[in-house]
Amino acid sequence: ITNKTFTMLKPDTLEKGYVGPIIEKITAAGFKIIAMKMVRLSRADARDFYAIHKEKPFFDELVEFMVRGPIVVAILEKENAVEDFRALIGATNPAEAAEGTIRKLFADSISENAIHGSDSDENAVIEGSYHFAGREVF
Ligand code: CMP
Repeated sequence: ITNKTFTMLKPDTLEKGYVGPIIEKITAAGFKIIAMKMVRLSRADARDFYAIHKEKPFFDELVEFMVRGPIVVAILEKENAVEDFRALIGATNPAEAAEGTIRKLFADSISENAIHGSDSDENAVIEGSYHFAGREVF
C-alpha cells in the first residue's frame, strides 16, 4: 500500500482547462495512473470526504468550492507515492509552494489550490476506496 496515493483535480483546474497539463506533470514524474474518472460531488459527498476538517473555520468554504463543478479523481502508483506526490504538488498554499510544483504553476489561492494529494498511506486507501470500486482500479 505504500506505493499508492489518491488525487483529485479540483473544480478550479477543470474550469481553467488545466487537466491535461497537470496529468502530464504527474505522469512525467513517474506516477502510473491505475484508476481515473470525472465526477461531480454532492454536498454530502464533499462533507463526507473532508470530514476530518469539519471543525475548521474554512470547512463550509471548502465544501462549496468542491461542489462547484466536476473534479477528476485518480489513484496513482509509484514507489514512495504519498511523499513524492506531495512534493510534486507543493505546499497547500500556492504562495508558499516551491518553484515548479503543480500548485505553484496552476493554483491561485489556499482555498482554490488545484489539486489534492493524500497525506498518509492510510488516508490514500480510505480516499481511494471512497471514490473507486474494485473493478475500476487496474
Ligand atoms: P487539501 O489538501 O485538499 O485538503 C484540505 C483542503 O482545505 C486544502 O487542500 C485546501 O484546499 C483547504 N484549505 C486548507 N487550509 C485552508 C484555509 N486556511 N482556507 C481555506 N481553505 C483551506
